[in-house]
Amino acid sequence: MLTVETLDLFYGDAQALDGVSLTAGQGEIVAIVGANGAGKSSLIRSVHGMQTPSAGRVTFKGADITGWPSHRVCELGVGHVAEGRQIFPNLSVLENLEMGATLKRARGAMAATLRRVMALFPRLDERRRQAAGTLSGGEQQMLAIGRCLMGQPEMIMFDEPSLGLSPTMTQEVFRVIRALHEDGMTILLVEQNVMASLKLAQRGYVLENGRVVLEGTGQALLDSDRVRQAYLGL
Ligand SMILES: Nc1ncnc2c1ncn2[C@@H]1O[C@H](COP(=O)(O)OP(=O)(O)OP(=O)(O)O)[C@@H](O)[C@H]1O
Ligand SMILES: [Mg+2]
Repeated sequence: MLTVETLDLFYGDAQALDGVSLTAGQGEIVAIVGANGAGKSSLIRSVHGMQTPSAGRVTFKGADITGWPSHRVCELGVGHVAEGRQIFPNLSVLENLEMGATLKRARGAMAATLRRVMALFPRLDERRRQAAGTLSGGEQQMLAIGRCLMGQPEMIMFDEPSLGLSPTMTQEVFRVIRALHEDGMTILLVEQNVMASLKLAQRGYVLENGRVVLEGTGQALLDSDRVRQAYLGL
């Protein structure tokens, strides 16, 4: 479904991605693990057309989307739940969700998608008229995920979805990711919670200083010395 081939990305003279290659098959959960500054968000933003790589290729569903602007990438079915949520605080929960369905691909099915999102997040349904800025952090994260779903994505890239959330809300986020996976969604998951993300993922990649240094099944990475020492403190 997604193929990233030898991607290079620079911010000025500083190289953030150095020959990064990865794939995600249809329906797969793929975890990307790495320390702060490793290039995880840069990778996601490059796939999503928010950064322009200087070399390499990104293909999605067979289309070469390298360098495409974000709105075109979204129209093709790539969703992105960005770090820091980025909801509209003064709009209601419902209005935020409706904003997610402005893509051409999503307009027709908006009512049905809204019912599905509300079923997945009963808390959002209860608070549909409430200003989004007054939601708790965990509820805002659910809203960000819900808004992404309103765009009818076929793949979702999550950037640190559990950052700053309580253990209960973190579990809730993982429950939702599992439910989306069971529905056949392709998922790229960047998570601080390395143990939980590798347990959930079929495969994963370890990113260090903009390079993929290790890849394998979630279990193989959990068992590897490098991951155990650097990311699990074992
Ligand atoms: N807009 C930018 N301009 C300049 N440098 C940037 C920019 N965004 C990221 N960087 C740099 O690129 C490198 C990779 O950053 P990135 O945000 O991709 O890392 P990350 O793995 O997502 O880290 P974190 O776990 O802290 O979110 C870092 O050294 C960062 O300082
Ligand atoms: Mg990041």
